[in-house]
Amino acid sequence: MSVHAKPDDKITTETFRRMKEEGEKVSMLTAYDFTTARILDAAKIDAILVGDSASNVMAGHQTTLPVTLEQMIYHAQGVVRGVDRAMVIVDLPFGYYRSDPKKALDSAVRIMKESGAHAVKLEGGVEIKESVVRIVNAGIPVMGHLGLTPQSIYQLGSYKLRAKEESEAQKLKSDALLLESLGCFSIVLEKIPTLLAKEVSGVLSIPTIGIGAGVYCDGQVLVYQDMVGMNKDFSPKFLRRYLNLYTEITSAVEQYVEDVKNLRFPNESESYG
Ligand code: KIV
Repeated sequence: MSVHAKPDDKITTETFRRMKEEGEKVSMLTAYDFTTARILDAAKIDAILVGDSASNVMAGHQTTLPVTLEQMIYHAQGVVRGVDRAMVIVDLPFGYYRSDPKKALDSAVRIMKESGAHAVKLEGGVEIKESVVRIVNAGIPVMGHLGLTPQSIYQLGSYKLRAKEESEAQKLKSDALLLESLGCFSIVLEKIPTLLAKEVSGVLSIPTIGIGAGVYCDGQVLVYQDMVGMNKDFSPKFLRRYLNLYTEITSAVEQYVEDVKNLRFPNESESYG
C-alpha cells in the first residue's frame, strides 16, 4: 500500500518522513539530464539525485572532484524540467562547502534558485556541522552522505568498503545521529557493512538511502547509467544491472553504420518526395 494520497502527488521531505514511518522503501536513481529525468519520473521513481558522479559519468573524469557548481546547476536545471513528481536532490560539489559555512550556504542557495531543485546533499559528518546548520536554517532541505564519501577519495585512498573497523563504525553512528539532530531529512549510506547500516537505520527516525549498504536501509540509490548497463567496466558487487545497454547500443550503432555505408538508410518512406 503506497503512502501517497494520490498517484500524482509530489514527493517531499514530508513524504520521506511518512515512508520511513510506514516502512515503505524510498527508490532513488541519479540523473543528469532532462530526457533521463522524464523517463525516471514517468516510471514513478521517488527521488532523483543529480549526483556529482556527473563528473565521472557525463564528463569522463576519474573522480568527482573536478565538477563545478555551475556544471551541477546546469545538470540540475535539465532534470528539474523533466520532473513532475519526483523529489530532485543536488550534490554540492567538492570545494564549495566543507571548510566555509558561508560559501556552503551561498552554493546551496544558488542551486535552489537557479535550478529549481528541492534539496541538496553534502558529504561528511561532524566536519561539515556548521555548513549543514547554515543551510538547514535557510530553509533548504539537506540530505547527508556517510561511509564511502568519494569527494574525500585522496584522503581515503581507495573506493573499498568503509567502517569495517570499530572506530570508524562508531564515528559513522555518531555522525548519523548528529546529522539527524541538525535537521537533515535523510542520509545516504555508501558502501558499509549491512549490519552497520541496519543498526544506523534502526536508531534514526529519518530514512537512510543505501548504495552498497545492504537491504535494511530505508531506501536504495544507484547511478542510472550503471543500473541500465551502459558502463561495462564498472562491476562492483552491489550493482545490479537491469539492462545491458552497452551491448544493445553498440549493436544498434553498428547496424546504423552498416545501413548508411550500404545506402539502406534512409529508405523511400524515410525520405521526402
Ligand atoms: O554522486 C552520486 O552519484 C552519489 C551516489 C552514488 C549516492 O553521491
